[in-house]
Amino acid sequence: MNSANEVLVVGGGIVGLAIALELKLRGAQVTVLSRDFQQAAAHAAAGMLAPHAEDLAGDMLQLCLRSRALYADWTRKLEDISGMATGYWACGILAPQYANQYASQYTQEHKNADADATPLRSQSSSPWLSQSAIHLAQPGLSADVIGGWWYPEDGQVDNRALAKALRAAAETLGVDIREGVTVTGFEQQGELVTAVQTTAGEWRSPHYVLATGAWSRSLLPVPVHPRKGQMLSLSLPPNATPGSASDWPLQQVLYGQDVYIVPRHDHRIVIGATNEAVGFTPHNTPAAIAQLLTAAIRLYPALQDLPLTEFWWGFRPATPDELPILGRSLCRNLTLATGHYRNGILLAPITAKLIADWVWQQQSDPLLDAFAWERFYLPDSPSTSRFSPPASAVISPNATPANSPTSSPSTSPMLQYSTPAPTLTLPSPTADTPLIIANRPFHSRLM
Ligand code: GLY
Repeated sequence: MNSANEVLVVGGGIVGLAIALELKLRGAQVTVLSRDFQQAAAHAAAGMLAPHAEDLAGDMLQLCLRSRALYADWTRKLEDISGMATGYWACGILAPQYANQYASQYTQEHKNADADATPLRSQSSSPWLSQSAIHLAQPGLSADVIGGWWYPEDGQVDNRALAKALRAAAETLGVDIREGVTVTGFEQQGELVTAVQTTAGEWRSPHYVLATGAWSRSLLPVPVHPRKGQMLSLSLPPNATPGSASDWPLQQVLYGQDVYIVPRHDHRIVIGATNEAVGFTPHNTPAAIAQLLTAAIRLYPALQDLPLTEFWWGFRPATPDELPILGRSLCRNLTLATGHYRNGILLAPITAKLIADWVWQQQSDPLLDAFAWERFYLPDSPSTSRFSPPASAVISPNATPANSPTSSPSTSPMLQYSTPAPTLTLPSPTADTPLIIANRPFHSRLM
């Protein structure tokens, strides 16, 4: 690993693989170090492509819309290269509302002749369907539904199929994927990462990308913590055809109150998801599954008779403001792509494009600034001299505690963020002088 066009991607989930593939397509020699492909959040997701249904706003909405716009071409490319389906389906998403939601969002300004009134929603340019219209558009909804939004441009992808196709495409094009390799630390000299230490020895590269999702904080002091999501699936009767109104009338994703219902082309119905601040606590729990089933059956009562097929869980990589961390770091040859929280599947293509632009062409899209790591640290832009790293250090993480802090979005999120900092395991001339960021000492200066 020594020629100038080599990139080492740490993390083999959807974000890491998407970046690796994009860099490979641009001519880089790419290696991916993947601890456990099956644990990636991509496998646990529902695959909704839902910038509007998730009610996103501002720069995050722009980022998600740009990614959604790439999806059809991106998945076609993956399918062509891999020969595998991704299950991309621009089916639209319906967000039915109950009277209690309606009451809490009601606004006189959004009067609608047919519907009596349209509840306010931050991105309400999408059509509001009245009670009669929504039941006509989607037969089988709960009688409690009093209307809802229709997001025709939102959709879904089969996240598991996508992850497999993406990995196969990367391998087909010659990305070197090292499965079962755990990165245990970065080695840093001045403003450069010089190596990563792994369970399979030391790896060196001219450039590194960190895409380790919910596990990022075990390598660097980035405020990313796990948010557990529990999910389940049902299966349709074997002769029913999703999308065919005559056989099975659920033709689009239902984004309801405390639950979403995602009908797949492969006869599964995916139901999600909890959002739990329980660290990396594994397993499904009866209470969570009961809650999801109750909410799903209330929204779409015919689900109650379908066979249960699977339960699972995964860990979203959440940040204090629920936005990803993208782009530069304090080391010139380390790029960050983590913290995608609820939208890793949706954001994979735009993340790959923007990070490849940055790594390969040194082009920084203006949108990247909104997702820079500095936002968690100081209100004024930090200079690299203030954060000057030790002359030589090996950074080795403490075991990340299972429970992470639960912090709500805030203008100064670092004030709420506390975790044992990574420690220097080799003597360093400056190791005794902690780096202070937002009143918090960091023993590692690699960021
Ligand atoms: N994107 C949906 C979820 O994270 O549950």
